[in-house]
Amino acid sequence: MQLLMCPPDYYGIEYEINPWMNRSRRSDLQLANEQWSALRRVLQERCAIDIHVIDAEPGLPDMVFTANAGLVWQNKFIVSNFRHEVRRREAVHFAAWFRHQGFEIVHLPQEYFFEGEGDLLKCGDSWLAGYHIRSDIGAHQKIAEIIEQQILSLELASEWFYHLDTCFCPLSDKQALFYAPAFDPYACRVIENHIPHLIAVSPAEAARFACNAIVVDKCVVMNDGCPQVHEQLEGIGFTVFETPLSEFLKAGGSAKCLALIIQ
Ligand code: ARG
Repeated sequence: MQLLMCPPDYYGIEYEINPWMNRSRRSDLQLANEQWSALRRVLQERCAIDIHVIDAEPGLPDMVFTANAGLVWQNKFIVSNFRHEVRRREAVHFAAWFRHQGFEIVHLPQEYFFEGEGDLLKCGDSWLAGYHIRSDIGAHQKIAEIIEQQILSLELASEWFYHLDTCFCPLSDKQALFYAPAFDPYACRVIENHIPHLIAVSPAEAARFACNAIVVDKCVVMNDGCPQVHEQLEGIGFTVFETPLSEFLKAGGSAKCLALIIQ
């Protein structure tokens, strides 16, 4: 597996676009750097993942959350249309990086917001996508046409869990971590009908971003302080690596948000 990460060189809590962000709760840049490097090391050394790195850009404090850059599909990179003005300028830098790597850059119509893998996850052969808070359901339809795959659209219902990857985490084609209170009732039913083995995450561990984990085969990498999920995952044969990501939680992000799947 190959992932794209962006170092937190210009990371900080400079605006408030989700309820976790509070400009008076500043992040510690040195600690953020240490945590980011530790995450990168775990992914490379314990999970044998290839990490590609894009340069951070001044004035784009959330660029570190590469999961929101877009979606890689075969030789195409579908660039995000960020909902919030403050993140919109990230898109040109991600598009330039992928163009340079030889990918064809695909833009969605301007009127559809789309925040990349943050809101679009593959579970086995199915694609699940979140909408309402950041991405639009119209974007899902456009992407479904591009990738020629069916996408199940799930309405998100809590501002605290504003991207799909904050409340849902595919573990295999039949298993996922799931925080039901983040979804509207119909979306819950769609998930329950579609995925036979759901691990319900507690409110406390959902708030520690237990669902925002990176999964590679039987390896799971996540923020620390999620003992119940940790134990349940080990019980079904996963090896869990916890790594502290406190500085990124202050922006409403954790492990999964900090990486984008290239392949
Ligand atoms: N501060 C960022 C935002 O609100 C955090 C993004 C987290 N990314 C994610 N994939 N959940 O946009």
